[in-house]
Amino acid sequence: MNITIKQAKDYVNQEVTIGAWIANKRSSGKIAFLQLRDGTGFMQGVVVKAEVSEEVFQTAKSINQESSVYITGTITEDDRSKFGYEIQVSDIEVISESHDYPITPKNHGTEFLMDHRHLWLRSKRQHAVMKIRNEIIRATYEFFNDNGFTKIDPPILTGTAPEGTSELFHTKYFDEDAFLSQSGQLYLEAAAMAHGRVFSFGPTFRAEKSKTRRHLIEFWMIEGEVAFMNHDQSLEVQENYVHHIIKSVLKNCQLELELLERDTSKLEQVTTPFPRITYDEAVEFLIEEGFTDIEWGDDFGAPHETAIANHYDKPVFIVNYPTKIKPFYMEPNPENPDTVLCADLIAPEGYGEIIGGSERINDLELLNQRIKEYGLDPEAYEYYTDLRKYGSVPHSGFGLGLERTVAWLSGVEHVRETSPFPRLLNRLYP
Ligand code: 4AD
Ligand code: MG
Repeated sequence: MNITIKQAKDYVNQEVTIGAWIANKRSSGKIAFLQLRDGTGFMQGVVVKAEVSEEVFQTAKSINQESSVYITGTITEDDRSKFGYEIQVSDIEVISESHDYPITPKNHGTEFLMDHRHLWLRSKRQHAVMKIRNEIIRATYEFFNDNGFTKIDPPILTGTAPEGTSELFHTKYFDEDAFLSQSGQLYLEAAAMAHGRVFSFGPTFRAEKSKTRRHLIEFWMIEGEVAFMNHDQSLEVQENYVHHIIKSVLKNCQLELELLERDTSKLEQVTTPFPRITYDEAVEFLIEEGFTDIEWGDDFGAPHETAIANHYDKPVFIVNYPTKIKPFYMEPNPENPDTVLCADLIAPEGYGEIIGGSERINDLELLNQRIKEYGLDPEAYEYYTDLRKYGSVPHSGFGLGLERTVAWLSGVEHVRETSPFPRLLNRLYP
């Protein structure tokens, strides 16, 4: 019977065969312990010299890290391991030997590991982070499907730039100039006018010259857009969504969180609603905290966001930023037209902004004026302004950065470990 490690619990006292890699190994004269991994989990294989052929025991003793094998043996319960099961090995069939595997159990520097990302993905921590990433994606689809959203896939090659023109990846589209999508928002707005509640999940590209623990050049964004929804209602959707992913990860990734030594009490205490403070209040708070490098009208940097986040034990919405530091499409705040109806959601523990969202301008004249003010080509935005000509409605939406969210929930320091093959400033390999 061929099974996976994950299925082992259903095969106690039965003889099975598992295809696996040798993650690690220790042996003495009489017994060898093989640390097996097959992608579904990690399990110990016990090879007892007295119970196997001489050849099998020699194989167990000499086999190198990351060799691939078929292991045959009997599954037994094992209270000492976290996993709870091990396999009493009777036979080992070597599929392919591995020699001089570069990532050994000793400590390697980050650049070395990033150069070997294609192999580093096999290690326990990296495996756990990808599992958490996958759970967030699964819970995302669950949340949006359960709440009446239709998934719409915006294009990756585009001629419009929602988030400003300075950080675009330019490419040729036959004879035309095009760029890689920074955000699917403008297309999602069109789709919201057809489907009411829509979401997307796709890669986005920012040619940002930032080399911080929060910035990737290519990252995945989950965006939601809803017709007839004002900004306050959008904040409720956002907090419910984030709460849903936290609960799902806590419930379905216990082993991974434990392996990563994540302090889960910090995640368990996150309940809705999340606090909301205005940009004005945030600036006042920072000045009181002794920040001398900030005044009204400035955008917040990482230290500012962290100082604000540290004041709360949940994510915090900063609402109503100044118009001039935000994109062209945001609806003015009726209470102060120098600000807009928008929010950034700042994660706790220094993970920074995980969501940017806003109510969108629905007045044609104002939108045309903004397109001009921001120096955008009105022709390229005709599809977008059309939405304001044919039955314009108030609508709002938001985008959540997947990798920053994975970093926060996993408790890993840097977003480079939350993307399988991160694109970073100066890194396109592997
Ligand atoms: O705040 P941003 O730029 O918002 C938008 O793109 C809107 N059009 C979304 C919308 O309203 N539909 O980006 C959204 C989120 C940020 O909050 C952050 O989590 C993430 O995307 N993000 C990045 N993540 C990693 N590396 C980068 N360089 C990122 N830039 C933004
Ligand atoms: Mg933003």
